[in-house]
Amino acid sequence: MLKMNEILDEKDRRLRQVSKEVIFPLTKEDQERINKMIEYLTASQIEEEAEKYDLRPGMGMAAIQLGVAKRYFVVVHEVEDGVFDNYVLINPKIISNSEEKIYVELGEGCLSVNREVEGIVPRYARVTVEGYNELGQKIRVRAREELAIAFQHEIDHLDGILFTDYIDPKNPFKDQELYRAI
Ligand code: NI
Repeated sequence: MLKMNEILDEKDRRLRQVSKEVIFPLTKEDQERINKMIEYLTASQIEEEAEKYDLRPGMGMAAIQLGVAKRYFVVVHEVEDGVFDNYVLINPKIISNSEEKIYVELGEGCLSVNREVEGIVPRYARVTVEGYNELGQKIRVRAREELAIAFQHEIDHLDGILFTDYIDPKNPFKDQELYRAI
C-alpha cells in the first residue's frame, strides 16, 4: 500500500512541472504504479481501510504526485456505497466542455494539499475527455458533476497546476453567483 509520505506535498516544486506524454507500451513500473494508485484510492474511500492504513481519502491521483512527470492519472469514483468505477487516463485531453460551471461547495481537496482550503474553484459541469488506456487504446469518457471536476483537477496536475492556484485568499468566494454549487 502506498503511504501518505510517498505523496508529494504542495510545497514540493516537482508538482509544478509540466508532465511529459507517455510513449506506449507502458513500462512495467508505470503499470505497477497505476495498480498501486487504484489500490490506494479505493482503500482510502473505505472507512475501515483508511483507518487501518492511515490513509487520507482521495478519489484521484496523478503520477506527478508520486514524483513521476508522466501524463497519466487515476480516478476511483464511488458510484454507490462501496461500489467504485476506476478510470485510468493516459495522455488525456478535454475535447469538449459545457458552458455551465460548477464548484465543490465544501471546497476541493487534494492528496498533496494537507489542509482545509476554502474558496471557489470553477470547473466545467460536464467534460468529454479523450486519452489512452493502459494498453494504448484510445478511449473517450464523458463525465459530469463530481467526476468531471476530478478529471479537470487531475489534468491540471499534469500541467503543474494545483486547485489552490484558482483561489484568491483575499477573496476566496469571488464570483460565486456565476457558478452552481455541488
Ligand atoms: Ni490533487
